[in-house]
Amino acid sequence: MARTITQYKCTACGRAAAKPLGRCPGCGEWNTYAEEMLESRGPRRTAANGSVTRAKPQPLAEIEGGAENERLALSIGEFGRVLGGGVVPGSLVLLGGDPGIGKSTLLLQTAIELAPEGRVLYVSGEESPGQIKMRAERLRGSATERPLPDGLLLVTETNVEAILAHVETVKPRVLIIDSIQTVYDPAVDSSAGSVTQLRECSDRFRQLAKSSGLAVFLIGHVTKEGVIAGPRLLEHMVDTVLYLEGDRFHSYRLLRAVKNRFGATDEVGVFEMRGQGLHEVPNPSEAFLAERVVNAPGSAIAVTMEGTRPLLVEVQGLTSPSAFGNPRRSGNGVDLNRLLLITAVLTRRLGLRLGDQDVFVNVVGGLRIGEPAADLALAAAIYSSAKDLPLRADTVLIGEVGLSGELRAAPQLAARLKEAAALGFKTAVLPKRLRAGEELPKGIEIKEARTLREALEFGAKN
Ligand code: TYD
Ligand code: MG
Repeated sequence: MARTITQYKCTACGRAAAKPLGRCPGCGEWNTYAEEMLESRGPRRTAANGSVTRAKPQPLAEIEGGAENERLALSIGEFGRVLGGGVVPGSLVLLGGDPGIGKSTLLLQTAIELAPEGRVLYVSGEESPGQIKMRAERLRGSATERPLPDGLLLVTETNVEAILAHVETVKPRVLIIDSIQTVYDPAVDSSAGSVTQLRECSDRFRQLAKSSGLAVFLIGHVTKEGVIAGPRLLEHMVDTVLYLEGDRFHSYRLLRAVKNRFGATDEVGVFEMRGQGLHEVPNPSEAFLAERVVNAPGSAIAVTMEGTRPLLVEVQGLTSPSAFGNPRRSGNGVDLNRLLLITAVLTRRLGLRLGDQDVFVNVVGGLRIGEPAADLALAAAIYSSAKDLPLRADTVLIGEVGLSGELRAAPQLAARLKEAAALGFKTAVLPKRLRAGEELPKGIEIKEARTLREALEFGAKN
């Protein structure tokens, strides 16, 4: 009995898709998608026909393994932390991110580091061995002083069978696939990077990891089609999903765990891309505030939570008379809907005249803030620019802004205030606390405001 897989294919150019598309993104033809059944390799094995080796149910208490100390430690501490404390043998980790963000760099650095402990096989389908060698030397610093470890093996290969054969001979402890979109299984009749290939190949690597105790890292590009052939498709198949994010024009990168069977999902690691690869940023808030000009109108400090970690960031606002009838609102690092909402609240509840003004907002350092708790800082930055009045330089602003101009509570206040105090901020403007909540740190003066108007009075320099 053969198993069939349904997929859709363009009859004009052969492009595969997970669902029938109206217009083929490959050749531009309309209504050319047809359903196609793919037969998977071999007959379906069932317990009844006896071809599976059946595992016996065992008491959980008697099962060996699972000890924390089996993890391979990483000296790139930020990476290890996001993984939940190091690389787990037998795990399958997906590292996703936009092209050019630094995925290959991060994993090559990791490979160089892990190789002295046990063999690492780096499989690339994207770059030539020469290119990778050049990068590795760059990452290693001066290559003459610190030669590349012998345990790091490199092969350029895209055929999954050939990769598995290499694993068989090399017997590495860690396998890195750069990238999963370039790998194909010759038994599957569709091109590399298609949905079927991605699923099929990832499944082969999953089986390999589980059966051999090898740690496998898959690199996956976030493609324009995103959902169709991107890493999202594989999230359910792997143990850990990491995304490397950031703005290509800035040097900061955030490594975020969105799924982790071996650790917390809300961990975030902060890196800086430098001439010699990714470097950890031990104190990110300090780095994000380094270039700040104090006492400039339009600058406000927000405290956002990136996972369990508070981060101080500068939010800048600029208002300027619009040249045309239709004023512009544009935001970098903030959600545009949030920006529109806040300008509307500033106009209606505070009478701030923005109708003939363009409003620009920028989060410094290429960071994105998705949290409503940054609303107050955003509103204050715009207000301060519109009034041409600087805010108090030693003050942070935390809170969500509601449609009536009221302030709403933000979670994890204690952690946020501790970080602000540690960086020398003297005052925090917060929403009025109506219930006794967590105890707040002593080192920082707290000013509670019920409304946006009150908060801006506290924040204004006088
Ligand atoms: P890369 O790891 O190739 O990205 P990805 O695999 O996610 O596509 O990184 C590409 C960028 O990183 C490239 O623009 C150059 C930059 N880079 C540095 O700035 N410093 C370095 O040491 C390295 C290796 C790369
Ligand atoms: Mg790459």
